[in-house]
Amino acid sequence: VPVSVMYARTLKWIFLFLLVCSIITAWYVIFPSNVVSEHANVMMYFYEYELIYKQQYPFTLRECLKCRDIDPFLVILVSSCPKDVKSRQAIRLTWGSQDFWWGHRILTLFLLGQDTQREESASALSVEDESILYSDIIRQDFMDTSDNLTLKTIMAFRWVTEFCSNARFFMKTDGDVFINTANLVKFLLKLNSSENIFTGYPLIDNFAYRGFHRKRYISYDEYPFKLYPPYCSGMGYILDGKLALRIYELMSHIKPIKFEDVYVGICLNILKVNLSIPEDKQFFLYKIDFDICKYRRLIAVHGVTSSEIIGFWQDLSSN
Ligand SMILES: *[C@@H]1O[C@H](CO)[C@@H](O)[C@H](O)[C@H]1NC(C)=O
Ligand SMILES: *[C@@H]1O[C@H](CO)[C@@H](O)[C@H](O)[C@H]1NC(C)=O
Ligand SMILES: *[C@@H]1O[C@H](CO)[C@@H](O)[C@H](O)[C@H]1NC(C)=O
Repeated sequence: VPVSVMYARTLKWIFLFLLVCSIITAWYVIFPSNVVSEHANVMMYFYEYELIYKQQYPFTLRECLKCRDIDPFLVILVSSCPKDVKSRQAIRLTWGSQDFWWGHRILTLFLLGQDTQREESASALSVEDESILYSDIIRQDFMDTSDNLTLKTIMAFRWVTEFCSNARFFMKTDGDVFINTANLVKFLLKLNSSENIFTGYPLIDNFAYRGFHRKRYISYDEYPFKLYPPYCSGMGYILDGKLALRIYELMSHIKPIKFEDVYVGICLNILKVNLSIPEDKQFFLYKIDFDICKYRRLIAVHGVTSSEIIGFWQDLSSN
């Protein structure tokens, strides 16, 4: 048998072997075998009658007087890491800069955990100094890591319950989001009053991902179902103040899972609150190029850098 034919045969077998392997992997990822059967009240799986999931991390910065003498119309809570000073500065100078829109009081605050690598550069502004300068940081004593983002969201709901229960609306967003605050306020003024408003970028029938991308992966132990309940992306969800109090109360009964937005979705599902889906497309999960007409109409765009936040705001204000 000529050598080239032997090579071709070996290659054929290797190819077949790889094909079978990838089919098996794909099968496993798409049709997992140990999925708990899905039925109506499935999210009750996460509910515990006792308050065993009440988080007891103490506040290390808490801004407890922010809402005392005012009744804010909207409080925007921005999830941020200790090292992201640049993005906080950009937000303070731009979409978070105005305290009032058409006579309605707006507050913007940042949510932080404890820095994991202390003081790598002595010249950078410390979080404590930043807090003294701007009085807009809420922080608790847990490690600020990406797997602890749910703790940060629970902290936000606790802060709202303890120190700001008189606000009309809340928004939870991230430091890499551009918000057209004027439009956001307009949008909220147009909503018909209901204590069950929960809105943002809706994600419906989203699959629990079991592939190899670590950031999106969730284990069966943590979440045994195939689909997530309906939820709004963590890039920006907005809810009624009274609803926030009910969600916080429930959180003490629900096991935290690694995705904070899904976690809030589980709570909504148990409270039987439906998402309100915005009529116009005003929330964007991925960055869209700057276009004055589009940016005048939208509410939030995810995935922008600090310098883009500043640039977009300047372009929007100068027109
Ligand atoms: C979350 O924070 C707690 C408290 O600081 C810490 O013990 C834990 O290791 C952190 N978890 C992750 C996944 O980073
Ligand atoms: C609010 O109510 C008005 C009149 O009842 C209706 O036309 C409008 O569509 C409602 N808006 C929303 C956002 O539901
Ligand atoms: C939520 O939506 C479901 C399905 O569309 C509907 O049956 C239910 O009545 C809604 N609940 C509320 C409180 O609006």
